[in-house]
Amino acid sequence: MTALSRKSTLASALLAILALAISACKPPPGGFPLDTLVPTSDLTQSFYDLFVKVTVLDIIVLIVVVAALFLAIMVFSTRTGSPRQPSVKHSDMYLEMAWTIIPALILLAITVPTVRVIIKTQPYTWPKDTLPVQVIAHQWWWEFHYPTLGVVTANEVHIPTGQTIRFGLFSDDVIHSFFMPQVGGKRDVVPGQENQITLIANVPGEYYGQCTEFCGDSHANMRFRVFVESPADFQQWAKHQLGPPAKPTSGPAAAGAKIFADAPCAICHTVRGVSGFSKEYTYGFRGPDLTHFGSRSTMGAAIMDNTPQNVAIWIRNPAEVKPGVYMPTLGISGGEINELAAYLESLK
Ligand code: CUA
Repeated sequence: MTALSRKSTLASALLAILALAISACKPPPGGFPLDTLVPTSDLTQSFYDLFVKVTVLDIIVLIVVVAALFLAIMVFSTRTGSPRQPSVKHSDMYLEMAWTIIPALILLAITVPTVRVIIKTQPYTWPKDTLPVQVIAHQWWWEFHYPTLGVVTANEVHIPTGQTIRFGLFSDDVIHSFFMPQVGGKRDVVPGQENQITLIANVPGEYYGQCTEFCGDSHANMRFRVFVESPADFQQWAKHQLGPPAKPTSGPAAAGAKIFADAPCAICHTVRGVSGFSKEYTYGFRGPDLTHFGSRSTMGAAIMDNTPQNVAIWIRNPAEVKPGVYMPTLGISGGEINELAAYLESLK
């Protein structure tokens, strides 16, 4: 193989790898759910604007540096003929001032908007109509409280558009990280300390969330969904969540209701009026509130669709679905599991 053909083989191999990489980046229908460059709130819009600003600045710096490099190599190098005498000057005041001041200005141009966005993410005051949402991270699921509305839910948080939302972030055990890239960016959830994310969402839709701080066996299974809705839809959702749970009176769901109350389920899970904890947030071991479990589209901290089949799979052996999970196998029969699943799905 000649050197030339080796070069062209190498070039085509590199091109093929590049093409493969680019085609792998092609977004699936509906886009990448954890894409950080699809802003849907004032907060993520300011992250995006900052990203674009800094990237443009970086590209300008890159162009200038590469151009200077090429000029130095191609134009100002004196390789042929007799070499020039090197400069005898010890320093050049103007040159040194230039390469001190210009980088300082570039850093300033990056720092000022960055600090402005950092301050924006941590306001000390909020508008009067702010909706507070308490986020409590547990190994390995998310609890959501709306203290002003009295709503409690898990793993699927609903928020209205056009209103300031203040997520207060708490942890019940270890350090987690609340990451909802398209709606509100990311912030650590630290035990013993309240962190916050404050934003105004403006694009209705269903968005993905994920814990992004390694927090134990099922860290990767600690997901959630954010439903951004019109204020009217949100009010309707909240009103429904405040309503009493379904009380099936016949069929497998009614049998399941009896199993739920008698089995250990009721020790850890709230179904309002049937079992569980007060609405006020307290620290302590528990599982997700199931009062309106059937109204959720996902289960197991958003790792699977909420279907009777998946609920049955989960109850049969939770640890098989979610390694390390604190929920034990209940040791109930297959028929009872199906009745329990029918009851949980009836909790719309
Ligand atoms: Cu919670 Cu990772």
